Amino acid sequence: MKKVSFLLLGIIFCSGVVKAQHTESCSDIIPAPVECKEYKHSFEISSQTEVVANVNRPEYKVAKYLEGVLKKVFSSPKHVKKYKNSINFILSSDKKLGKEGYVLDMGRKQITIEANEEAGFFYAVQSLLQLYNIAPNGDYIWTKNDSVATKVDSIGNGTGYMVSIRRTAVKIADYPRFSYRGKHLDVARHFFNVEEVKRYLDLLAYHKINRFHWHLTDDQGWRIEIKKYPLLTQIASCRDHTMIGHYKDYKKDEPVRYDGKKYCAFYTQEEIKEIVQYAADRYITVIPEIEMPGHSCAVLEAYPQYSCRKSGIKAVGSWGVFEDVLCCNDSTFRFMEDILSEVCELFPSEYIHIGGDECPKTRWKECPICQRTMKEQGLKDENELQSYFIRTIEKFLLSKGRRIIGWDEILDGGVTRTATIMSWRGEKGGYAAAKDGNDAIMVPEQYLYFNWYQANPETEPLAFSGLTPLEKVYHYNPIPEGLNAEEQKHIIGLQANTWTEYIDNFPLLMYMDYPRTAALSEIGWSSSRDYDKFLQRLKILTPLYRKMQQKK
Ligand code: ACM
Ligand code: ZN
Repeated sequence: MKKVSFLLLGIIFCSGVVKAQHTESCSDIIPAPVECKEYKHSFEISSQTEVVANVNRPEYKVAKYLEGVLKKVFSSPKHVKKYKNSINFILSSDKKLGKEGYVLDMGRKQITIEANEEAGFFYAVQSLLQLYNIAPNGDYIWTKNDSVATKVDSIGNGTGYMVSIRRTAVKIADYPRFSYRGKHLDVARHFFNVEEVKRYLDLLAYHKINRFHWHLTDDQGWRIEIKKYPLLTQIASCRDHTMIGHYKDYKKDEPVRYDGKKYCAFYTQEEIKEIVQYAADRYITVIPEIEMPGHSCAVLEAYPQYSCRKSGIKAVGSWGVFEDVLCCNDSTFRFMEDILSEVCELFPSEYIHIGGDECPKTRWKECPICQRTMKEQGLKDENELQSYFIRTIEKFLLSKGRRIIGWDEILDGGVTRTATIMSWRGEKGGYAAAKDGNDAIMVPEQYLYFNWYQANPETEPLAFSGLTPLEKVYHYNPIPEGLNAEEQKHIIGLQANTWTEYIDNFPLLMYMDYPRTAALSEIGWSSSRDYDKFLQRLKILTPLYRKMQQKK
């Protein structure tokens, strides 16, 4: 057994201890674990704690990661301790733990972490970090949790070094309820840079969320470099200006007021690869969304030949649903397939999200080419034309070994059995999909849209509409009523969405997403619910969320 170990020697100046008090709660983590018991003893992690794992085994990579985090936390010169303790990673064969489950047992001299696969070890480490009030990547420690005591060395000029963190020992056995636990982010309406997306992913991983749905294209901007079509980044990544105020506050026919600032942004393919890898290292799969056939004004400014009108379309600077959409014909399919080929190269995800929502049929009704496609394919109306569009794209993605996710509108006009439905207009899409044998992911806007207000709009920053306060999110049950046991298996999980029309900076994004993402994580992972206890545990994480909401 090779040891991943670290040992730092140094000098001690003086020492201050934040006193520990006992709490009622067993585990202090979000999402709540399946089983937890509290010991009478405590366990102190310090620079003397060794991380022990077998090389060339699934646990090794995660052990290295933990070692890196602890090194960052205890980076100061240290006194030599008389005793040592360790965190040991052990491969398990307990089937109940599945791919993502783990057992974390804090003895007197060693913590053992058991799991079947890398993700399980990783989630055990996230629990451990939360238990010790260590933020993802070790870049922040806080001391509000009564179970936790930190010992800080001070060198007398206000600078402190973390010597150790001690807390009540616990034993946790844990595994998730749903395999798909997703969080969505719209970077088309407002853009978040690579560093911000990484911080976002850190926090998702910290809450055991395992899918990042990256909404990369929309009417207001195209945010992903596609080598074959350079105008996507030269033209479609820009809009001339952005609407001021809430679009619902404008009266009918009232001219829109704009800020007069050109807004341009995109990720290069290198940046995309960096983020995909960063997410993978945190056991998060990135699912890219390339919107079609609606929400396509930006792409059609750059390549108007794939629209029905062939000219006069611009990336828009206001919010809503727009009538210019992709024209339904073979040349458009080849164009989208070229784009998706590059997307598949960049994203190893089994799922590719192809949008499919809010596609007005106005242009298709007037367009001779679309009408010809309908005739040739024997389609009775434009809903069937949309279904034909989606099926054609799905066939292409299936040929590449990928599966599609689409918003629930793709059910209109018929859907193949292999498509997965993302149910956003309430639960009915997910319900219908599961009844028919399609997989579904529950994202009902009334519960899981985090761009909606979380409290009284009069005292909140401008938000989209509606109200999805924390308690409402927490009480959402992702299994729609009326499904039998077999149908329920088609509900593979849930997700929360954050559309960013009114979220133009990272602190505001954090404010909108936290603590609601904590509630999301608990209903996706844990089978039992207790809102009062959740609020208690939330108090422990609140200093971290506050920190993330601060402007840098
Ligand atoms: C959606 O909110 N248009 C999926
Ligand atoms: Zn057309």
